[in-house]
Amino acid sequence: MRAVKVFAILNQKGGVGKTTTVANLGAAVAARGHSTCLIDLDPQSHLTLHFGVEPNTPEIGVYDVLSGEASLASATVQITDNLAVIGSTIDLAAAEIELAGTVGREQILADHLAEENLPYEFVLIDCPPSLGLLTLNALAAADEVIIPLQAHFLALQGLGKLLETVSLVQRRINPKLRVGGVIFCMYESQTRLASEVTADVEAFLESARGSDTPWANAKIFPTRIRRNVKLAECPSHGQTIFDYDRNCNGAEDYLALAEQFIALAGGSLQSKPTQVAPETPDKPDASAQAIPPEPTSDETVVAANEETVAAANDENPPPSES
Ligand SMILES: Nc1ncnc2c1ncn2[C@@H]1O[C@H](COP(=O)(O)OP(=O)(O)O)[C@@H](O)[C@H]1O
Ligand SMILES: [Mg+2]
Repeated sequence: MRAVKVFAILNQKGGVGKTTTVANLGAAVAARGHSTCLIDLDPQSHLTLHFGVEPNTPEIGVYDVLSGEASLASATVQITDNLAVIGSTIDLAAAEIELAGTVGREQILADHLAEENLPYEFVLIDCPPSLGLLTLNALAAADEVIIPLQAHFLALQGLGKLLETVSLVQRRINPKLRVGGVIFCMYESQTRLASEVTADVEAFLESARGSDTPWANAKIFPTRIRRNVKLAECPSHGQTIFDYDRNCNGAEDYLALAEQFIALAGGSLQSKPTQVAPETPDKPDASAQAIPPEPTSDETVVAANEETVAAANDENPPPSES
């Protein structure tokens, strides 16, 4: 049996492409035959809405899971054979306060993923734009962090704090946590700024090689997600880019990214491909044709550490980006 691999898609900045990436990368990976579950950990419910799931239907969501009233399995909405979503509601915004006195509050999601033995190969978590308790739950549960970045002049602002938080969680509660890579989103390859920022990030990651930081092996994904208005349009239709316009640059980029992601994740590239590819424009739901999910095995339960939430808030040094 294969353990489910959990990825936190994280950047505490809003508007960098987290949700767009979780939705479309997730759909592409599922369509390549890898059973995938997407978890919406943002109270704004953008990922939930992206799939046309109304935030209150079904009535069970991530909030109910974190507050101990439901299982992840009961909160799952099946989108296609290989793709499921666990939705959020605005209630989730209250979870940080409500859980303040709960022992092991940053471990709740990790415990559910470890204990429920969900039938997925990959779980992608769409994180909220903050480094609070919801994000700590994502980091405590994750194997890898993937960081979407926009190549503009403030791109690196906040990266220091993000990486320190990852490092803290890795040291205290989740020793397996690693930074898998950086995805450049809304990329404008013509601009000098884009290539300068890319070079800065590359140099930073190179300088960490061989260090004992969780980002020592982090890579920039070779595919940059180009700015493409279709990616901004498709959520309002409750569709992924592959259902909305499978011939556009956005679909092409996320499909290419999915190949690199699967390779990074150690998933089998032999999985049966299904057609999110361009030549069949009217096919209603390519990802529905994917092969059935594989069973998973238990995850290791990481040791609980009560002080981590406070520590993450108190101990982060100021960002050291340049
Ligand atoms: N590659 C892209 N090209 C054009 N618009 C994009 C692209 N990626 C994301 N967007 C749009 O930019 C906005 C922010 O993206 P989103 O994925 O919601 O970011 P985050 O989840 O980090 O807040 C959304 O309106 C989204 O539709
Ligand atoms: Mg978002």
